[in-house]
Amino acid sequence: MTLLSVPVKKDLLTKLLRNVMLNYSSPKSLLYFAFFLLIVSCSKSEGGDPEPAAATLASNLLYNPASLQLQAGTPGTSVKPSISGSTPVTFSVTTSPASNGAVTIDSEGKIKTSASLAAGTYNVSVIATNAAGAVTFTNIYAITVTAATPSAPQNLLYSPNSKTVTQGTALVSATPTITSLSTVNYSITSVPSSSAITINNQGVISGANTLAAGTYMVSVTASNTQGSTLFTNAYSITVNSAGTNAVTYTNDIQAIIQNNCGSCHISGSEVKFNSYTSTKNNIDGILTRIKLAQGASGMMPNGGTKLPQSTINTIQKWKDDGLLQ
Ligand code: HEC
Repeated sequence: MTLLSVPVKKDLLTKLLRNVMLNYSSPKSLLYFAFFLLIVSCSKSEGGDPEPAAATLASNLLYNPASLQLQAGTPGTSVKPSISGSTPVTFSVTTSPASNGAVTIDSEGKIKTSASLAAGTYNVSVIATNAAGAVTFTNIYAITVTAATPSAPQNLLYSPNSKTVTQGTALVSATPTITSLSTVNYSITSVPSSSAITINNQGVISGANTLAAGTYMVSVTASNTQGSTLFTNAYSITVNSAGTNAVTYTNDIQAIIQNNCGSCHISGSEVKFNSYTSTKNNIDGILTRIKLAQGASGMMPNGGTKLPQSTINTIQKWKDDGLLQ
């Protein structure tokens, strides 16, 4: 009824009422009266939009099952709970005793425990907050963590569990994860066997740049105070012969330069070999210097050990193959 601006409406109403009073029974006044009623009902309906439904507090939070049993060292997750009340809801969690951050809750209300949660029984309270406010569901969930039984090492895992390099390039594996309650000692065997493959006391496997071309299946023996476990073929190494694949800067040369020359020629103040172009432009000088005898004046790496012949061959082959990027 925006057409009936306030002054117009007022005039009209006065006129109507006067007419009704003057001649209540005439058909004309009845018509006016009907019109009057129409206006009144229209003005009423002008009263505005319906009120938004009021937000309601979270209620009926339910986990089914409402408890979790774990062995120490193993992470866990609850089911997704059901809940009533207005959405969206944000969740937070407290535990008794405190979990030192090892118990968390996600945006769906799933309760998560990390592997660091110490053995014990934890009562979990969840706070659900929405537009209406926060509600605490006290001791709505229980987590029982039983102490792990001591055993020989378990679950050795390298991620990734293989590596491929070109001959002449050293390699290092990722640090593995392993389950053990006490310190682990590592040893390896490989097929075919090679003294160029070693393992450190973190379980990190290294292949020296002298490793011959081939594929090596590496088995790891992990020992602790409870015993030893053999993880057969836990890691594999593939060394591609520099002789068969075309040598490229990105796949082969960059790492060699970085590892052997980088301290002076990438980060240091010497002539830069820090890109494909700068390395390519210096290839003749590089080959001359690395082929000099150990101890000869100008031999590179400067003051260091002459590169293995296989690495020198790779760099020579890079030139022979056309200095591919
Ligand atoms: C510890 C530092 C150091 C390392 C490592 C090193 N260099 Fe050098 N390099 C120098 C110094 C210092 C010079 C300048 C003196 C000279 O020419 O002998 C130089 C000069 C050179 C030159 C001559 C550059 C020019 O045009 O003047 C080449 C080529 C070279 N290095 C190649 C290499 C290569 C290839 C490696 C790795 C295999 C390497 N260097 C590792 C210190 C280093």
